[in-house]
Amino acid sequence: MSFEPHASPKHIAIIMDGNGRWSKKRLMPRNIGHLMGASNLRKIVKACVNHSVKHLTVFAFSTENWKRPPEEVAILFDLFVRYLKSEIMELQAQGIRWRVIGDQSAFPKELKDQIDFACKATERGTQLDLTVAINYGGRWDILQAVQGWQLAHPYESLDQLSQDALDPYLATHPLPEPDLLIRTGGESRLSNFLIWQCAYTEMFFTKELWPDFGEASLSEAIEWYGQRIRRFGKTDEQVQESSLRAKSVLHPN
Ligand code: IPE
Ligand code: IPE
Ligand code: MG
Repeated sequence: MSFEPHASPKHIAIIMDGNGRWSKKRLMPRNIGHLMGASNLRKIVKACVNHSVKHLTVFAFSTENWKRPPEEVAILFDLFVRYLKSEIMELQAQGIRWRVIGDQSAFPKELKDQIDFACKATERGTQLDLTVAINYGGRWDILQAVQGWQLAHPYESLDQLSQDALDPYLATHPLPEPDLLIRTGGESRLSNFLIWQCAYTEMFFTKELWPDFGEASLSEAIEWYGQRIRRFGKTDEQVQESSLRAKSVLHPN
């Protein structure tokens, strides 16, 4: 049975891992790896626009990353502020809409202000949604979504809560679920990223370290995605039938 490659991914999620090992290989301090990682994000954002990706969600700091040495945490938060300050004009010029997901209650005021400013300044962007997950954890997200639903429905009991009803309360709302997740750095795990949203996401794991993951690697991941058969629980025959049906609607003759 042959399948036509399906459309390119509309939503890509990336676990940008391997900055530390990248610098270690070069006998450099870890912050250099993080700096190179931030500059790589710039390139990948552009490449995603060229591939007509509409949503890019990247993992920059997990709820577990607080366990790192305080100096590294401070360097990372400083980098987020500096990245935003230096990038805002470029994001605007490229039509990129910037958003942050994660528990912002622990953020320094300067970062909160910078995030608010960047969100407002880029809200009209239509090329790509760039969502940066900072102090984000999938378990945090599910819990805060349930709490959000409960707050909005004070007279309903939890057995009235459905999977669809939870959707508007997830931090990623209104983004669609990621089609493709890429993790650099050689690990094959989610590390608490988008655990609810990635239930049917195609996962591409690569040994390449994040600062080395360039445009060609992104194209390779997108090509790999194009070869996947997304069954969503159905059989091959059902998948092929619905793709033929969709094709005949699009091109009736
Ligand atoms: C990912 O790179 C960036 C963050 C988690 C902030 P790492 O810093 O985890 O790099 P490795 O895994 O130590 O190489
Ligand atoms: C995941 O990377 C988090 C980010 C990339 C921000 P980690 O390096 O923290 O993941 P683990 O600890 O190896 O699972
Ligand atoms: Mg890591």
